[in-house]
Amino acid sequence: MSVANLGYLHVSEQAAGSWRSFGTDVLGTMDVPRCDYEDCTFLKIDDAPFRLMASPGETDKLVSAGLETASASDYQALIEKIKAAGVDVQAGTREEAEQRCVTEFVRFNDPAGNCLELYYGRTNPQECNSPFESPQGVSRFVTGDMGLGHVVLPAPDIEQVRAFYIDVLGFGDSDDLRLPPPAEGAPDMRVIFMHANNPRHHSVALFNGPSPVGIVHMMLEVTSIDEVGACLDRVHQAGLPLLSSLGRHCNDNMLSFYVFGPGGIAVEYGYDGLQLDWNEFSPTVSTRGDFWGHAYQMPG
Ligand SMILES: [Fe+2]
Repeated sequence: MSVANLGYLHVSEQAAGSWRSFGTDVLGTMDVPRCDYEDCTFLKIDDAPFRLMASPGETDKLVSAGLETASASDYQALIEKIKAAGVDVQAGTREEAEQRCVTEFVRFNDPAGNCLELYYGRTNPQECNSPFESPQGVSRFVTGDMGLGHVVLPAPDIEQVRAFYIDVLGFGDSDDLRLPPPAEGAPDMRVIFMHANNPRHHSVALFNGPSPVGIVHMMLEVTSIDEVGACLDRVHQAGLPLLSSLGRHCNDNMLSFYVFGPGGIAVEYGYDGLQLDWNEFSPTVSTRGDFWGHAYQMPG
């Protein structure tokens, strides 16, 4: 029993509508207006009611990551494990569950303080159930049972946080990437990639440093290099800064670039990510991030 996939992400935005325009004009996601939540933006990329929710906030940051469970019984069993690990678990209210279009959810923090929401039963209220149609002509995003994509979370005390995801939430190890320090005197960079109960190479990864926006990046996957290139054109047209140039990762084979979205939240946009049979897989330890490309330009 484990988490099925990364189901949704909730971010806060300082400037009203910034995720709506970034999503529709640049990423090619579909805006789903909901009359009860006019101050929020809901972005849809597939049959799910939404995959990204932006609500008003004093800063731009990740509020929470929504982890899907496959059934009510998996959901209950995982909650018991989280509680048994000594973690404080808060039940979401009926109103909050309605806003997230889920049957039920709980909220808790991982050991690094990243807020997670565990849920089951994605509902599809009428105002969210029109078929996905991209305003930018994206044919489809690679989602389904594999969820929205992946998220990389800050975890300075990375070993302790990894243990929580593996031992308590039931994630599996995919890759442990160790890279030389980004600057003299800085510690080695380390990213731990973990899979949920679906073929995507990783649904959650941990980075051994802090992040001012509570998220290192999120990843959305499309189905062709042309759709990656077309999005890169839209990024340039919008005059948005890149976190990284185009490149191909070694561990999940993703060909992608990274753009800074609202408030400096980075989005990786790629295609060709590996899908694996975990029964045939041994976790890897690697020291090389990319086959080519991915020149990072760290802000500040
Ligand atoms: Fe990524």
